[in-house]
Amino acid sequence: MADNILSKMRAEWDARARENARYYVNTANQNWTDDEFFQSGERTVAEEILTDMTNICQGKDPKAMRVLEIGCGAARVTRALAGLFGEVHAVDISPEMVAQATAALAGFPHAHVYQNNGTDLSVIPAADFDFAFSTIVFQHIPSREVIENYVRDVSRLLRPGALFKFQVQGDVTISSTPDDTWLGVPFSQEQALAMAERCGFEMRYNHGAGQQYFWLWFFKR
Ligand SMILES: C[S@@+](CC[C@H](N)C(=O)[O-])C[C@H]1O[C@@H](n2cnc3c(N)ncnc32)[C@H](O)[C@@H]1O
Repeated sequence: MADNILSKMRAEWDARARENARYYVNTANQNWTDDEFFQSGERTVAEEILTDMTNICQGKDPKAMRVLEIGCGAARVTRALAGLFGEVHAVDISPEMVAQATAALAGFPHAHVYQNNGTDLSVIPAADFDFAFSTIVFQHIPSREVIENYVRDVSRLLRPGALFKFQVQGDVTISSTPDDTWLGVPFSQEQALAMAERCGFEMRYNHGAGQQYFWLWFFKR
């Protein structure tokens, strides 16, 4: 793994976080209030998780589930996840994002945030996870190798049959450069399917191919 892209991602995301973390997390607003910011995370959970509980919970009580989030930013979505699930573990590459997420999760002792190396989940204590989630993170990662490394490591942590639901950039007309930490590498349906197979997942569903919000449902084999 090229160390220079990992350090560039960390430095540039940390600079964005120090400048205006919430804006770079969700560019819909330059001056998010606490309420508006965390409500937008509740909306993400309402749209992507509460509508999909059969695939996500598979009969389990959400309060008995341990879940993982990649690229938590300032805990916009993490807080909503912590309101729903029994245990939440989230990683982010930026120390400043992690500091802001940790502050935002002060009232949620069952939510844990870690600064990671930008390419795997080795920082997370070994445990079986019931669900993994990531949104508006991989669309910023310019390296297919880094993304695939994450997908493989999620497979290591998920229990068999569990779901990793995540979003990638699906607009393949976008040309990202290998060191651009804002515009990530896009995936076609075929590339997503091949990645699932290589990493020990069944890609059972996908939605939004060709668009920015290309959602993938990877079930651990
Ligand atoms: C646009 S924000 C989205 C945050 C959060 N997922 C949300 O929806 O509110 C992207 C986040 O991904 C993090 N990030 C970028 N590259 C990363 C990487 N390689 N590994 C882990 N986190 C990364 C950034 O630090 C930033 O916090």
